[in-house]
Parts: sequence; structure tokens; C-alpha cells
Amino acid sequence: MIFAFTTMSNKPKEKNTSKSDTMDSIISLCKRRGFIYQGSEIYGGLAGTWDYGPYGIALKNNVKNLWWKRFVSDREDMYGMDAAILMNQKAWVASGHVGGFSDPLVECSNCKRRFRVDQIIDEDDYKEDVKKFRNFVHLYIDSGETKKAANEAIDKNYKISEFLSLSEQKKKDFLNKVNEIIPIANIAAIEGILGQIEKLESYSGKFARFYLNQKVTCPSCGVKDKWSEPRQFNMMFRTTVGAVESEDAVSYLRPETAQGMFVNFKNIMDSFHPKMPFGIAQIGKAFRNEIAPRDFLFRVREFEQMEVEYFIDPKNWEKYFDMWEKIRMDWCLEIGLPKEKIHIREHAAEELSHYSKRTTDIEFDYPFGQKELYGLAYRTDFDLNAHSKNSGVDLSYFDEETKKRFIPHVIEPSVGVDRAVLAILTSAYVEDEMNGEKRTYLKLAPSVAPIKIAVFPLLKNKPELVKKAEEIYVILKKQFGAVEFDDNGNIGKRYRRQDEIGTPFCVTIDFDTIEKNAGVTVRDRDSGKQERVSEKDLIKYFSEKFQ
Ligand code: GAP
Repeated sequence: MIFAFTTMSNKPKEKNTSKSDTMDSIISLCKRRGFIYQGSEIYGGLAGTWDYGPYGIALKNNVKNLWWKRFVSDREDMYGMDAAILMNQKAWVASGHVGGFSDPLVECSNCKRRFRVDQIIDEDDYKEDVKKFRNFVHLYIDSGETKKAANEAIDKNYKISEFLSLSEQKKKDFLNKVNEIIPIANIAAIEGILGQIEKLESYSGKFARFYLNQKVTCPSCGVKDKWSEPRQFNMMFRTTVGAVESEDAVSYLRPETAQGMFVNFKNIMDSFHPKMPFGIAQIGKAFRNEIAPRDFLFRVREFEQMEVEYFIDPKNWEKYFDMWEKIRMDWCLEIGLPKEKIHIREHAAEELSHYSKRTTDIEFDYPFGQKELYGLAYRTDFDLNAHSKNSGVDLSYFDEETKKRFIPHVIEPSVGVDRAVLAILTSAYVEDEMNGEKRTYLKLAPSVAPIKIAVFPLLKNKPELVKKAEEIYVILKKQFGAVEFDDNGNIGKRYRRQDEIGTPFCVTIDFDTIEKNAGVTVRDRDSGKQERVSEKDLIKYFSEKFQ
């Protein structure tokens, strides 16, 4: 039985704060209340690492468990696994990570700080300049014409290789013409980029340097024109396995969990003989030596991924792509992310990773902007093909029905646990006023809240209240696990403490509970409203709330 209980609380008023203030407040709450601490804090920290405290790990485990339930254990076509972080270096050569897993890095020679080029430039402006330059190349190849022709050439395709094959004199003539029209750099400088033109989009080389020197001020020291030439920097953490430091002993901390699943494709096939389509899933640590870790948990050097490699016949790829689109969206809503903050972004052709034929990202409105949360890629047969070729092991699949043998294609939903935790924390963080007092609380969905229910005796010094509260606490704890007992300080303070860690419900045992057998009060975190619930109905009441 549930009793209505009138409350004194007014409807809470939410307060507006700036984006960086919000991030600072969230980081400070996370530290104060034992969610997340800076990594190695007592030694001054280690950039790009964060340590999860008791409430943080409880929240994170809830996120991982919900993912595992929806993506693995609720399904009949999924195989879970946990591969080693260290893998034979050949796996990383085959996957393309040794050759290509890199970001363009640039150094300011004034303050010696390094930055990822794509994070300090205005990408649209840069691309516009690249386009202009390429169009001049096109112009020259076509006709050596005038400025008008240059403008007309915009948006046309052109062949850089043809330009590179011109005689030195012709290149120089062209460069003179370029210099008349775009004063982006002097001729000598432009000459320097000849060998780099193919790489323009990767922000490498001299063109990127000229662009930076002309247009970008160092975000750290504010000086312009001191940029080094950007260089590609491999983001894998390299290590050696065993006592001998030879090239043969090199391995890497995995930058994605995916490869551990591809190299076990045959093992799973041999042990379980699955029929396609089927998937392999794992949750595990990944490491990337990010040049500029930032935005709290968003871009870190050590993080966790939750990935599925779903093996399909290529003729069905669109159907399974759509299937995983829906599953990942449902999961985002299940962990409590507000629908209006979730956006799906299709990758443009030139943005696709080397292995992908189609990628869509779920982007999320973090306080620092709309950024990637959850990727979905059609990886084709790139990985199994590469591992098959490099290992010499046949990774094909024989379809009994069609009698066809082929290398399966892959759809891959991949999300970072830490980015999901950050999305949850930033969207749940609320500052409001309740009963004329300021309060801060986390509007967490019960499914992810580290503590689901807190149980209080109204007064600490009344043994009969404490005894009853302890009895109820034991019953609720046995049933729901994440239940906390608190008798410290006045009741208002206890509510505030639970609000701050996002506990959806507080149960208070008062004199009416004991003297009038009137049940307990259950307070709702978001509204502050209380209702009385009889003791015998408590489990049913909360079971319904947590459904
Ligand atoms: N296996 C595919 C893959 O690794 P990705 O887009 O590079 O693709 C997948 O990474 C997800 O991992 C991202 O959508 C993001 O949620 C998370 N992630 C990637 N780099 C991260 C970083 N430095 N810090 C935190 N999370 C990261």
C-alpha cells in the first residue's frame, strides 16, 4: 500500500551556468564525492589518466553490465570474450596500426608545447585553403590560365600526380602564378610543399606549417609564427616483452579491443561452430598516447571500450548496420541519456577510416560541444583478410546453405565506457534550489546510479528508530544490493549528500513508522516529494521503480 504524503518542497528551479564552470563543478563533485580522481594525484598527476573511486566504479560497472546484458547475454548470436591486452606485434602490423595509427603533431618552438594540428586549426578554413591550392594546381595543369579560371576550377577534380610529374621549370612557373594570387607563403616555401601535396588532408608537412604560421596563435603562450612542421606521431604505447630489448620483442598496449576479437575468430568458430550472422564482444582497456588529452574523461590515454565485431554475409550489410543503429540508440536511452542531446552523424567519404565503407557516430552534447560518443562502422572484410594474409591462417567461413566460402564482413558498434560515463555525469548534473536552499544533484537513471536507495533513521540517538532502520536496510540491501545506511548529521544534510551522488530514493524511519505503524517515508530525489509506503510493500514499490 502506498500513502500520499504532502511535502513542503517547492518545485525545484534549475540554474544556468557557463560550460567551463559546469565542467569544473562536475570534476570537483566527482573528486569530493569519491567518483573519479586525477591519476597519480599525490605525485602531481599523470596527464590523460583518471582513477575511479567507489561511487565511480559502481556507476561504471552499471554502465558495463547494462551494455553486456543488451549486447551479449540477452542475445543468442553473441559470444563474449576477454583477450590479452598485449598481442604479437604482427597483429598490429596486419591491422594497419603500426603503419597508420597516427596523428599530426606540431610544436610551438617558443613554449615547447605540442598540439594536435586538427585541434588548433579551424578545419573549414584550412580545407578551404587546401582546396584553393589544389585548384591552382589544376589550373596550371589545364591551361596556365588566369585568376578567373582559377575560380572556375573550384570544386573540380584534379590530378596531383600529373602536377608532380611536370618539369621543374613548369612547376616554378606555376608557383609564380600561385604566389600572385594567394599570398599564403613565398615561392621557396611553396616549393617545399611539392613533395607533400598528397598529404594535405592529414595536416602533415610544410603546407600545414605555413598555414599555422599565418593563421594560428599558440593556445599556450599566445605566440604566432613559431610552429614546427607537423609530423605524424604513432599513438600506440610501445613496450618490450621479456628481458631482451630487441625489435622482435616489441609489442604495444592495444589501442582498440577489436583486434583481440579478429585474431580469435577461428577459435570461436572451431569451439562453437556458429552460424552467420554472429558476433564476438568484449569490454576491456585500450590505450592511446593522445597528444593532447583533455575534457576530463573525454580524451584520455587509458580508457575502456565496449566493442562488438558482428560477422555477416556482405549482401546483408545494410540490414545489420540498421539493426545495430537501433540497438545502440536503445542502450543510450536505457542508461539515461537525454534523447535531445543525442545526434547521429554520418561520416563523409573522405573522413572514413581505412577499413570502413560506412560509419555513423552517435555524437553527444557535452558541455564542451557536440562530440563523438559511440561509433558504428561497416569494416568490410578488411581485418579478417589482413590477418588471414599476414598469419597464413585461413579465416574464411563456409556457408552450409549456399555452399559458398568467403571471408565474412563485419559491422562494428564501438563505444568508450569513460565517454559514456562522462555523458551520463554531464547530462545528470543539476544545480537548483529546493525549499529556498541551493542544492547540487545528479539526476541519474536508477539503472546506473551507484546507490539506488539510502536508508535513514530520523534521529541517530533514538535506538528504536535506528533498530528499525537497520532492519529495513538489511532487507533492502539483500534485495537491491546498492543500498546505503546513513545516520550522520541532520536529515536535510543526509538528503543533500545522497542527492549529490545521484541516489534516486531515500527511505526515512520516523516515529510514525514505529508508533502508528504508518510505513516509512520514501523521498524522490528529483522532486523532493515524499510519500509513505508500508514496510511490507517496500520491495514491490522499488522493484516497480527500477523496472
Ligand atoms: N575499434 C574501433 C575504434 O576503436 P574509435 O572511434 O577509434 O574506433 C571507439 O574508438 C570509441 O572509443 C570512441 O567512439 C570513443 O567512445 C572511445 N575512445 C576513443 N578514443 C578515446 C580516448 N582517447 N579517450 C576516451 N575514449 C576514447
